[in-house]
Amino acid sequence: MEKKRFYITTPIYYPSDKLHIGHTYCTVATDAMARYKRLTGCEVMFLTGTDEHGQKIEDKAREAGITPQEFVDNIVRGDRGILDLWKLMNISNDRFIRTTDSYHVSAIQKIFKRMHDNGDIYKGKYVGKYCKPCESFWTDSQLVDGKCPDCGREVQDAEEEAYFFKLSKYADKIQHLLEDTDFLEPRSRVNEMVNNFIKPGLEDLCVSRTSFTWGIPVDFDPGHVVYVWVDALSNYITALGYDNDQYDDYDKFWPADVHFVGKEIVRFHSIIWPAMLMSLGLPLPKKVFGHGWLLLDGGKMSKSKGNVVDPYILAEMFGVDALRFFLLRTFPFGSDGNFSNEALIQTINVDLANDLGNLLSRTVSMVGKYFGGTLPENQAEDPEKDGELVGMASALRSRYEEQMEHFAFQNGLAEIFKVIDRANKYIDENAPWVLAKDMEANGSRLAHVMYNLLETLRVCAILLTPFIPTSAAEVLRQIGACEKCSTWDSAAQWGSLPQTAAVQRGENLFPRIDAEKALAQLEAAAEAAKKAALPDLEIEPRLEEKVDFDTFCKSDFRAVKVKDCQPVKKSDKLLKFTLDDGTGADRQILSGIAKWYKPEDLIGKTLMAIVNLPPRKMMGQESQGMLISAVHTEKGEECLNLLILDDKIPAGAKMC
Ligand code: MSP
Repeated sequence: MEKKRFYITTPIYYPSDKLHIGHTYCTVATDAMARYKRLTGCEVMFLTGTDEHGQKIEDKAREAGITPQEFVDNIVRGDRGILDLWKLMNISNDRFIRTTDSYHVSAIQKIFKRMHDNGDIYKGKYVGKYCKPCESFWTDSQLVDGKCPDCGREVQDAEEEAYFFKLSKYADKIQHLLEDTDFLEPRSRVNEMVNNFIKPGLEDLCVSRTSFTWGIPVDFDPGHVVYVWVDALSNYITALGYDNDQYDDYDKFWPADVHFVGKEIVRFHSIIWPAMLMSLGLPLPKKVFGHGWLLLDGGKMSKSKGNVVDPYILAEMFGVDALRFFLLRTFPFGSDGNFSNEALIQTINVDLANDLGNLLSRTVSMVGKYFGGTLPENQAEDPEKDGELVGMASALRSRYEEQMEHFAFQNGLAEIFKVIDRANKYIDENAPWVLAKDMEANGSRLAHVMYNLLETLRVCAILLTPFIPTSAAEVLRQIGACEKCSTWDSAAQWGSLPQTAAVQRGENLFPRIDAEKALAQLEAAAEAAKKAALPDLEIEPRLEEKVDFDTFCKSDFRAVKVKDCQPVKKSDKLLKFTLDDGTGADRQILSGIAKWYKPEDLIGKTLMAIVNLPPRKMMGQESQGMLISAVHTEKGEECLNLLILDDKIPAGAKMC
């Protein structure tokens, strides 16, 4: 029989910065769904990738002094880049598209031309606002307090010759799609789209730019590049081989079963994307699911706020499976959730270390201790004592399936943990250590208690596979589950594990985390990361105000020679200089530079000072002027360098 097919996608990520835990959240969720569908026997296509064009990338590359292609290559393929991150997180994508891939580029040119030739794309003039970070055009009425409605940042005026897509033509069809079908979920997002975008009147969409070049050129009109969202959204079909020879899976997998997308890009996926497909005469995806954001202290994570959470640090400290599990166990997928390290540690300690980890280690070690690792065939059931656990575990797959089919990962996991909880209680109720005291009388009952625990672990581990693939496989290995009794089908068949299964002890899967120690470590890592993210070099901004020449000439800058230099008592900042300023009398200057210079290193040096400032008292001593130095900031650290002059310059020489 031919397998059912399932095509699922994540948004393709902007490689403008390294990805954070919020980005990881969506990809982990998509991975769990893809693995779940594979487990149930589907042939899955899981696509992710990178969205590499646009003005933001062009600007960032220019700032970095490299080409846009080099810039995106670094973030996609470089050390700890996007590909490394997905590998680390055990993401099982079947395909990875980069919008700079040449097959995609030429397919976009064909798609753009097709919509142009059928009259849905026409040439006009764009006058409006543009949000560079979001790569979004807005009309004045869409702005919130004059700022971008998505990110709240300043927008720029934009006016240029441009191509437009007749989005308005599709308004009614899209409204029907949103209101009368299950195309967009969760349902709350439908009202948002209809009320905020469709009801006020859908305007035609500007789909080409001429003011920058890092995009896919419109091949029939040089100077125009295709609007980055038209380029990006089409990835879902070009990656299957639509309008290109690179792949041949379009007929097999399109329409997609679901696009998982963050809530702020639901607009593009539920309005613009279906309209483009309608224009191309292609079937629409079956569903768009707009998930919530992971927030930090109630607000959005962003590099500019300096509050991004690094998935590398968390995965390396707590383990990939623990991090994956936390993301999907803690936050309802459709709503926002507040990320915190405390919650992460608590989830690991309670669910994984305490509930699942203990159930596994207690069970496996008892089977080892009481039966040498292999259960006997002769086992005694006790329907009264076993009924509830066996009933719950037998019904688990269908309860879990119901949640998973609705992308309710948190609820699916909750179902599993109800059973794990029940199994831990079952151990206490049946007190195997008491039964073991008289093996002759109770051995066969004890064997069955152990069997029920192994069976429960087996069913739970199979269903946990999409979330914690490595650990779930290890659970199955430790309880001696064979391949046949590790399948989706067998998860609904209580008793699939042979009665004489042999356990194999292994490592403690989820060691308990010392919260205090881990939090301190995380804080130190975050501090180090913050420092590393600081600009290498920061120079004070230039003053706008002009100084007239006569005023400038009133400042008397002179070469001075250091005759003596001493620290000032009770001050860790000040050094006291005795200087030869060429007048024959000593000049005393106090300078707050002790952090950077040792007094003895400066004796004999020729420096520059301004000598006609009014004298000033510091720590009870008079300072007659100021030494001149250069200041800048490096990695957040203030740096100061005295202006040290050539020794052949005589004391008192005027600087001009
Ligand atoms: N390039 C576009 C998507 C094009 S799809 C045709 C884009 N890229 S992005 O890198 O900015 O974001 C990718 C995804 O990460 C989005 O779905 C976005 O919602 C998600 N997230 C970014 N920060 C997030 C959180 N803090 N929490 C959850 N998801 C978040 O948008």
